[in-house]
Parts: sequence; structure tokens; C-alpha cells
Amino acid sequence: MWNTHLQLTTQWGILNYAMSVKVIVGTQWGDEGKGKITDILAEKMDYVVRYQGGNNAGHTVVVGESTFKLHLIPSGILYQSVVSVIGNGVVIDPGVLLNEIDTLAQQGIHIDANRLKISSIAHVILPVHRSMDSQQESRRREEKIGTTGRGIGPCYTDKVSRVGVRVMDLLCNDRLASRLKKHPHMVDEDIDQVLADYADFGKRLAPFVVDTSLLINQAISSGKRIIMEGAQGTMLDVDHGTYPFVTSSNPISGAACIGAGIGPHKIDQVIGVTKAYSTRVGEGPFPTEEFGDVSEYLRTKGCEFGTTTSRPRRCGWLDLVVLRYAVRINGITEICLTKLDVLDDLKTIKVCTGYDTPNGRIEEFPLDLDVFSEAKPIYDELPGWESDISQCTNFDDLPLNAKSYVKYISNVLGVHISLVSVGSNRKQTIHLLQH
Ligand code: GDP
Ligand code: IMO
Ligand code: MG
Repeated sequence: MWNTHLQLTTQWGILNYAMSVKVIVGTQWGDEGKGKITDILAEKMDYVVRYQGGNNAGHTVVVGESTFKLHLIPSGILYQSVVSVIGNGVVIDPGVLLNEIDTLAQQGIHIDANRLKISSIAHVILPVHRSMDSQQESRRREEKIGTTGRGIGPCYTDKVSRVGVRVMDLLCNDRLASRLKKHPHMVDEDIDQVLADYADFGKRLAPFVVDTSLLINQAISSGKRIIMEGAQGTMLDVDHGTYPFVTSSNPISGAACIGAGIGPHKIDQVIGVTKAYSTRVGEGPFPTEEFGDVSEYLRTKGCEFGTTTSRPRRCGWLDLVVLRYAVRINGITEICLTKLDVLDDLKTIKVCTGYDTPNGRIEEFPLDLDVFSEAKPIYDELPGWESDISQCTNFDDLPLNAKSYVKYISNVLGVHISLVSVGSNRKQTIHLLQH
């Protein structure tokens, strides 16, 4: 059950355990609707923490007539009572973050230092990271990754190479100057301008900067309810995804510990967010990709254009091989199924259950990218429901075939589906378990 407390009856009486930390992860190639799900669940939370990625992420939250596009700020920010935390595992472009704060203020969401906390040891994206990102892409010729061009890869590279600039460096001019001078990619002529700009960013961000690991661990100890919000998705994970067509961080649940500074035993639930079909932005293999009418239908009906780069997303059928892998790699305990309404008009719906490969039929995700690239999906065909479900608020209101689709996915994966989303708005949500 998805309660915030677990009650156990023992020989010593009834024990109450706080079930306070949930990780939200994308199970596909990103854009599964993590922002919407985080926003929905955040209503009952005290903290929402981003633990990796940067402003390559684009999370859209729709409330009534208003649409909020979030890139760095956690998707709990719309609730006054929630503290939003940008953890140490995130890479921060300070100019983008300040713009996001200003844009939200124009939309009536005012953020002060009580509501947003930024890790002092998170790494900072510099202008040189953005230019390196695009230069590296143009040099890749045949093997482009299709990055978002936000400087994410080069910033994480500098972090691992131990030459990065961290948020705390922005708060001290001398230290910032020294870090920039030692930086292997900075051109001397640029240093003064970057120093001036980033020292200014530091002044504005200073009130938000704290030891976020200490904050989060204290919150856990006092029984606060916390969501760790992942960006991107399992198949974009630098270790477990379709390398090299991945991002440069670990979106999977295990990374929440590193990116927020908490112990693994503090995590109670791992919630996988799964889109009712598949999409991918950028390059890389995608066995269930469709190119004709189906792809066009999904893209148009699902508004499948990138939140960050506006690129049309590649679209295709649901892939249970990928999902089985995501359940395993993340230790997923619940699934929130999104965008079921997008399938409304289809007569039949295909679901991939395995692949035909040069090595024979397989049902587990192959780690060899060459095998994955050549995998031919084996499909089950399920009947569509051919009616509008976007106003359904109860599972029982759904047409029989829509219910069967949801149950089919849950049965194959052996994981409960705890929520079904039937539209972008907060209201268009069916709760199957009490949240
Ligand atoms: P994220 O990156 O995982 O947060 O996902 P994005 O926000 O980039 O992309 C999901 C898009 O689908 C957004 O535009 C959402 O507003 C929208 N969306 C979320 N859930 C649903 C749903 O159930 N139905 C429909 N039609 N749209 C949805
Ligand atoms: P959210 O959080 C979908 C993809 C890019 C590219 C690859 C590497 O909104 O789900 P990067 O700029 O990270 O070096 O690009 O990863 N990518 C995403 N695709 N949703 C995202 O985030 C993504 N963030 C990065 O398109 O293929
Ligand atoms: Mg997105």
C-alpha cells in the first residue's frame, strides 16, 4: 500500500514506521510525465529533491489554465508548503536557474530562501561547457547523440576530472577566480567576463545555498515526507542505458543516494513513471519506433515535442522488454502510467513482449548495443477502446479495453499500477491506490 506509514503488529504491540522517502524515476527515454506525477504526489510531501541532471530536463506541470515548464527547479515548487531542494548531483547553469525563478515569479510563484535550497557542492555549468557540447556534437558526424546542447556532458566530465566549479565557489570571488584560472578549457580572454557574471549569479543565489544532505537527513529523521525527483529516464542512464546514446548522469533510483547524500536504507519506495507508449528525443536505437501514420498520430495527439528543445520526439509502441529492465535496475515498487488518453482513437494497440535478434528470441534487454540496434520487436496486439477517457476519474469509469491494457502491463511486469494519468491537467488523474 502507498501509505506514508507502515503499521506492524508485533509481540511488543503496534509499531509505526515512517514511509517517508519515495524516488520517482522515468522508466523509458525521459518525458514520461515525471513532472506531472511529482506535482500530484507533492501535495502531501514536505520536500521534493532533484538528484541529478540539469537543464537538459524539461518537466511540464499543468494546473487549471496555467502551464509551468520546469528545468532545474523541482516539480513540487507549486505548493507553498513544499521545500524544493536541488541536490549535489545536479549540474546547475546559474543563469538558467535565475531565469526560471524570475519566470515563475511572473506566473505568480514566488520563491524565497525558505522554499528553495541549493547544494553548495553541486557543480556549475560554465559558458565553455555549452560551447564544448555543440563542438563535440558537430565533430561526431555519423554518431551524433543529439544532446540538448546545454553543456551537461562537459560539466559532468569536468566534475569527474576534478577541475569543476561548484556552487560554493560562486560565493567567494578569490576562490572563483582561482578555479577559473586553473580550468583547463577556459580561454584567458574570457575569464574576466565569466568571473564578473558568475560572481553576480553567486550574489543572487547565496541565500539559497546550504548543505542539502544535512537538511534532507534531518528532515528524514524528523519524519518528513520526501520525494526524490529523477530527471531523464532509465534508458538514458550513463551506465545502464543505451550507451553512448545516453545523458552524462545516472537517472536511476540508486543515484538518488549519491545525488542527495542519503543512505540507501532511507529509501522506502521507488515509483516508476511509464508512458503508455514510447518516445525518444535525440539519436540512438529504439526498436519499437514507428514511422508512418501511428507515429504521426502519437506525436500529434500526445503533443510529443521536447519541452527543452522543441524537437519532435520519435514515437512508437510500448516496450515491455525495456520496462522489465527498468523495474529490475531501479527496484521499482509501483508504476504510475501516464498518457493513456493518447491511445484513445486507436483500433488496435501493439505491445512489444520480446525481440527477435541475430542470436535468437530474447525477452531481457541486451546490453550489447549492436544486438539492441538490430532487435526486431515481437508484438502482442490488444484491442483499443476508441473512446474519450480524458474525463475519467475512477478506474471503473474506464472502458473495458482500457482497463485490460492497464492490467496487462501490470501483470507482465509483476508491479502494481498505482495511478493512471489521462490528461496533462492535475485533475485528469485516476488514483488506484490511496496516496
Ligand atoms: P517529464 O520530462 O517526464 O516531466 O515529461 P514532460 O513534461 O517533458 O512531457 C510530458 C508531456 O505530457 C507534458 O507536456 C505533460 O503536460 C503531458 N502529460 C503528462 N501526463 C499526461 C497525460 O496523462 N495525458 C496527456 N495527454 N498528456 C500528459
Ligand atoms: P526529461 O527530464 C528526454 C536526451 C537528449 C540526448 C541525450 C543526451 O525532460 O525527461 P544531454 O543534453 O543530456 O547530454 O543529451 O539525452 N535527453 C533527454 N531526452 N527527456 C529528457 O529529460 C532528456 N534529457 C536529455 O535528447 O538524446
Ligand atoms: Mg521532459
